[in-house]
Amino acid sequence: MTDRKGLILAGGTGSRLWPITQGISKQLMPIYDKPMIYYPLSVLMLAGIRDIGIITTPADQAQFQNLLGDGSQWGLSITWLVQPKPEGLAQAYLVGEAFLDGAPSAMVLGDNIFFGHGLPEMLAAADAKPDGGTVFGYRVSDPERYGVVGMDADGKVTQIIEKPAVPPSPYAVTGLYFLDGTAPARARSITPSARGELEITALLETYLADGSLTVERMGRGYAWLDTGTHGSLLDAGNFVRTLQSRQGMQTGCPEEVAYLQGWIDDAALLDLADRYEKTEYGAYLRGLQGTRGM
Ligand code: DAU
Repeated sequence: MTDRKGLILAGGTGSRLWPITQGISKQLMPIYDKPMIYYPLSVLMLAGIRDIGIITTPADQAQFQNLLGDGSQWGLSITWLVQPKPEGLAQAYLVGEAFLDGAPSAMVLGDNIFFGHGLPEMLAAADAKPDGGTVFGYRVSDPERYGVVGMDADGKVTQIIEKPAVPPSPYAVTGLYFLDGTAPARARSITPSARGELEITALLETYLADGSLTVERMGRGYAWLDTGTHGSLLDAGNFVRTLQSRQGMQTGCPEEVAYLQGWIDDAALLDLADRYEKTEYGAYLRGLQGTRGM
């Protein structure tokens, strides 16, 4: 485990989900039984990261704070940051520069949901690299909607392009970026794209140009779920419901990750379970007692 800090980018207008996101942030929408942001937050926690900056719009911040507080209930330290306008994903490194204070980071988009056997090991491998950057490529049927990696005949990444009309491969770059301490300085060196945003792909290109970008492929055993449209939001909720009811286990449960990581003890777990007394979620948390290391 390194001194890597976490960033969650949870701003934006959510305009593709209007009217539902006119009154509430997209990243607070339910994915079945939990708010969307629980899922990417749990990913950072699985990576062993406890010091986390959460970036929201100015208007939505109070609601996120109501939900997550200062993170201490889960053994975390949450720093609240504001992005005044949605001027691009790479801007997260400028908003978060003072918080990061030179540390390497793992940035996750507040609307990205990951699930898969071996995820903790994949995260640990990315975390173990102090220099350069690691991103994750995932095969999708509609790569033109994402940042896409181009590869040569040996599978070596040669380019990263944002929403290409003709995708050079079916591999989208997921919204999880492990970057070293130079990310804020690099973000300052890039210029806004034609759509007026500091593109994450432009930032990643600077690592690619240095030969310091690793693209790990998340294989077909992983689920990387989209929440960008009304249909895919519902699909993601149904996926989580199907999985959880079949297995009797939660996915994206911060309390569980905190307990398994040893950041909260049995008494704290039971206290959290009591808060959700009337729900299956509460019963699940209570049932976790004594399962650490099993
Ligand atoms: O989900 C992965 C994709 O995310 C990557 O493959 C792309 O390279 C990357 O550009 C991004 O594409 P999207 O089209 O999904 O980006 P979108 O503008 O929808 O923003 C993603 C999330 O970040 C969304 O929940 C809103 C939030 N956001 C976005 C911008 C531009 C912010 O909080 N601030 C921003 O300035």
